[in-house]
Amino acid sequence: MICERLSLLELTCSGDSRFGGIGLPGGTVIKVGSRGRLSISLERDRYFQLKNEGDVPIEVTNYGKSTLAARRRLDGRAGDPQRPRDCQQCVVAPLGDHDRRGVVPGEKCGIRSDRPEGNDQSLQGEEGQSLMARALVTGGAGFLGSHLCEALLARGYEVIAMDSLLTGDLRNIEHLYGRPGFTFVKYDVTNHVHLSGPLDAILHFASPASPIDYLRLPIQTLKVGSLGTHKTLGLAKEKRARFLLASTSEVYGDPLEHPQREEYWGNVNPIGPRGVYDEAKRFAEAMTMAYHRTHAVETRIARIFNTYGPRMRLRDGRALPSFLTQALRGEEVTVYGDGKQTRSFCYVSDLIEGIIRLLESNQNDPVNLGNPTEMTIEEFAREIVRATGSKSKIVYKPLPTDDPKQRRPDITRARTLLGWEPKVGLVEGLGKTIEWFRPRISDIR
Ligand SMILES: NC(=O)c1ccc[n+]([C@@H]2O[C@H](COP(=O)([O-])OP(=O)(O)OC[C@H]3O[C@@H](n4cnc5c(N)ncnc54)[C@H](O)[C@@H]3O)[C@@H](O)[C@H]2O)c1
Repeated sequence: MICERLSLLELTCSGDSRFGGIGLPGGTVIKVGSRGRLSISLERDRYFQLKNEGDVPIEVTNYGKSTLAARRRLDGRAGDPQRPRDCQQCVVAPLGDHDRRGVVPGEKCGIRSDRPEGNDQSLQGEEGQSLMARALVTGGAGFLGSHLCEALLARGYEVIAMDSLLTGDLRNIEHLYGRPGFTFVKYDVTNHVHLSGPLDAILHFASPASPIDYLRLPIQTLKVGSLGTHKTLGLAKEKRARFLLASTSEVYGDPLEHPQREEYWGNVNPIGPRGVYDEAKRFAEAMTMAYHRTHAVETRIARIFNTYGPRMRLRDGRALPSFLTQALRGEEVTVYGDGKQTRSFCYVSDLIEGIIRLLESNQNDPVNLGNPTEMTIEEFAREIVRATGSKSKIVYKPLPTDDPKQRRPDITRARTLLGWEPKVGLVEGLGKTIEWFRPRISDIR
C-alpha cells in the first residue's frame, strides 16, 4: 500500500510486529511526516515491512507501559529486536482529518479499519493511549497560539491549549470549543505543569510578545521565558514529548549582521527595557538546548520574525495593529524615528505552516521563520494607509530605546531543511487582516 494521498499517517500496533526490519512491541505508534511516503507490505504473512520513500524521517514511539522510554528513529539503527508475531490488530489512521474519515480502509495484511466513524474525542488504543497525536500548546489563547491550535486540530492532532490569559483572549479560541479533540486549560505555566495521559508534542508559545505587553509585564515576561520554559521542558522530558520553543528574532537584538542567519549570536542590551523579552528568549533557547543535550529531549527552536494577521490585538503596540487601527479610524499614523528602520512581515498562515513543518522535522538547531521581503517602516505605514483607503497622515515620533534598526531573516535553513517559504504576499495578507480588523475598530476605546 502506498499512502501517497495521505498528508500524515499514524499506525498503532497492538501485537508485536516488525517494521522496517526492527521488531517493535505492542502499543507502538508510527508517524510519518507530511512529505513522507510510506509503503507497507506483508512479509511472509507474518509481519509488516515498512519502507520510507519520502524525505521525512519516520518516527517510532512506543507507548507501552514499560517501554514508554523507547522512542527512537527508524533510521536503520538496530532496535531491540523482538520475535515478530502476527499483527492482526494494527490500526491505520490518518493524522489529518481524523474526525471525518476515521480510518483508512484496511488491507489484507491485517491493517484494518476498526476505528469508529464519528467525532468521539475519547478514542483510546490499547493501554489507554490516544490514537491521535496529542499536543499541548502553551499560550494557546494568544494570537499565534490560537492559529496553531486550529492548524493542529485540522491535521488531526488532539490539542490542549493552556493559557493564563495574561495577554490572550478567549475569543480567539471560542470557535474551537466543542471541536473534537480540543481542550482549554487556564493555567500559568510558570508553575509546575502536569497533564495526565500521553503527550507527543509541546509547543511553548506562552509569553507576552508585543513591546507594550513586555514593557508593562517585565517580570512575568522573564518568568515565562525562564520558569515557564523549564516547567514545560520538564513535562516534555517526563512524557517523552517533542518540544518546540517559540523563540524570536529579538534574540539577534539590534543586529550587526544583515540579514540575520541562525549562526549570528546577536547584539542585545541585557539591561535595557527590551532586555526582559530578548534575554528571556535567549535563556529559553539555552534551557531548551540544555534539555536536549542533557536529557535527550527532542527539541525544536523556531526563531519567529514579525508575523501579522487576524486576531492580533488592535492596540498591542506592534507596528501593524497600530498603523491599521490609526488608519481605519482616520487618525494620524505614528511612525517612530525617521521610518527608515526596516522590518519584514510574515502572514500568520505561512508562519504556522513553518512551525508545523519544523515540529515534524528532525531539526534541533534554531530555524528562522519569517518573510524575507524587507521594507522600511515608513513604506509599510504608507502601504497600510493605501490598503485601507484612509486619508490618514503619517507623523514621526522619537524612536524607543534599543529599537532594532533592521530586521530581515535569512531563511536558507528553513528553505533547504523544511522546504518552507512564505507564500502570502503583503497585499493579500493585509487584505485578510483589514477584513478582520475593520468590524472590530469600534471596540477600541
Ligand atoms: N507574533 C509575532 O510576531 C511573534 C514574533 C516572535 C516571537 N513570537 C512568540 O510567539 C509566542 C506567541 O506570541 P503572540 O504574538 O501570539 O502573543 P500573544 O500575547 O497574543 O500570545 C501569548 C499568549 O501567552 C499567554 N501567556 C503569557 N504568559 C503566560 C503564562 N505564564 N502561562 C500561560 N500563558 C501565558 C498569554 O495570555 C497569551 O495568550 C510568544 O512566545 C512570542 O514571543 C511572536
